[in-house]
Amino acid sequence: MPGAAVWPAGSPGAVWASEALLAAAAFCLLLLALQRLRPPGAVPEGLRRPPGPRGFPVLGNVLELRRDTHLALTRLGRRYGDVMEVRIGTRPVLVLSGLDTIRQALVRQGDDFMGRPDLYSFHYISNGQSLAFSPDSGEVWKARRKLAQSALKSFSIAPSPTSSCSCLLEEHVSKEAEYLVTKFLQLMEEEKRFDLNQYLVVSVANVICAMCFGKRYEHEDQELLSLVNLGNEFGEVAGSGHPADFIPVLRYLPSRTMELFKDINRRFNAFVQKIVQEHYSSFDKEHIRDITDSLIGHCQEKNAGEDTHVQLSNEKIIHIVNDLFGAGFDTVATALSWSLMYAALYPDVQKKIHEELDRTIGRERRPRLSDRGTLPYTEAFILEMFRHSSFLPFTIPHSTTKATVLNGFYIPKDTCVFINQWQVNHDETLWKEPSAFRPERFLSAAGTELSRQESEKVLAFGLGKRRCIGETIGRWEIFLFLTTLLQQLHFSLRPGEHVDITPQYGLTMKYKKCEAFQIRPRFPGGSSL
Ligand code: HEM
Repeated sequence: MPGAAVWPAGSPGAVWASEALLAAAAFCLLLLALQRLRPPGAVPEGLRRPPGPRGFPVLGNVLELRRDTHLALTRLGRRYGDVMEVRIGTRPVLVLSGLDTIRQALVRQGDDFMGRPDLYSFHYISNGQSLAFSPDSGEVWKARRKLAQSALKSFSIAPSPTSSCSCLLEEHVSKEAEYLVTKFLQLMEEEKRFDLNQYLVVSVANVICAMCFGKRYEHEDQELLSLVNLGNEFGEVAGSGHPADFIPVLRYLPSRTMELFKDINRRFNAFVQKIVQEHYSSFDKEHIRDITDSLIGHCQEKNAGEDTHVQLSNEKIIHIVNDLFGAGFDTVATALSWSLMYAALYPDVQKKIHEELDRTIGRERRPRLSDRGTLPYTEAFILEMFRHSSFLPFTIPHSTTKATVLNGFYIPKDTCVFINQWQVNHDETLWKEPSAFRPERFLSAAGTELSRQESEKVLAFGLGKRRCIGETIGRWEIFLFLTTLLQQLHFSLRPGEHVDITPQYGLTMKYKKCEAFQIRPRFPGGSSL
């Protein structure tokens, strides 16, 4: 062997060689010892890692997941099972499908799966202080969530002493829905073609603005319009599986979507902070006007030495309003937008809703929240809208708070977890012909009652410890907006015009801009109200 030397015994080379041998032996022993110590994330004996597709080096499975991530992961789940591991970049991501498996993880093992991953894009949401997106899931998160739930309840569904309606939510929604009826008819007459979603989102935003800020905006208000008509730029980045969250080098490459995402968050935070400052300057603790005031009040009580288990900073308290406002309009507006699209696409279904509304409520009065429970077909329609559109295909990503075992698979601590709601809502083992839009699937044979068992199979609001805190408000809002609109209006699509309802992947999925809606009054002479 060229260059190899044979050293005579006793020469300095022989000493060096024996030292090298000793070092090599020590190194081998150390390796053996390290292997026995088992690095974190290695699989304990008797357990397996979740199966999943082999990916490319560096990229992992990112190319397969780039488009329509919900469909790609549903296809892969069929092959690898309900507990599957994919890699996005070099990062392993656990993907859960199947209602039983998801219930097992989020409800029965709720503590293990309640975390949020520390993702790059989430740092821009609410200055990294978001209740929903920040990685905190400990005592501070728990205290903030409780505070958010209680403030939300007081200014929405709790009985209102000052209002003629059953609660403030009913008052705000009835007002906005009535406004929409007039606006839609006016736009049909004057413009003929218009994007109805632009008006829906402002009305829904006005409801959450009324609760959070005690304020209503005009439909032409440019500042609000530029915030709420986000298109899908926010959802595209915040949706599960955005590559820049998993492949760090992408953060340094120019990306229009990421720049828009940062800009929306900057403007959104500035918008909320300006209103919060106005509230501080006119705050009166004897006269709490809205959620922002109630949060400011909480900061002051805390500063006055309120004996609480966890001390929250003022910033952490006040930023709760960003989450409530942010989560409160896009979700509900998207649900209404799909509802009106399905009503227009399925005239027979719309006719049955009209008949039920005429039979149960008539024309003499407007729908109220107390009508829930008396309109089973309409409620079945709303459930079918949630199931069929699955417009929130995944929950917000979760992460494991400790090493755990699910269905016999070992999952290390801090594993990022995607919950595939779309898969559950289209699972052929749970639903007959899942691709058909059929509200009747939720009704008893006589069509008079909702089946609780079927309703609970629909996943839209997540489950367990991170379940949506606005679920009741969201469901009630959708019910009241929809019944008020459909009591008075008929929706159809302009004949012969192509309408593309393919959902665009993101945190909330929407169909492409559509100006083909035709809206006419059901009672042309006007109702007797
Ligand atoms: C149709 C309406 C809505 C739908 C479908 C919906 C759905 C969801 C989903 C899927 C999650 C994530 C659950 C998880 O990660 O496991 C969530 C979280 C959340 N939602 Fe909603 N939501 C709706 C309306 C609302 C409204 C009206 C509000 C408040 C005004 C709200 C506030 C929140 C908050 C604060 C969280 C974060 C909870 C946490 O991380 O602890 N949502 N929602």
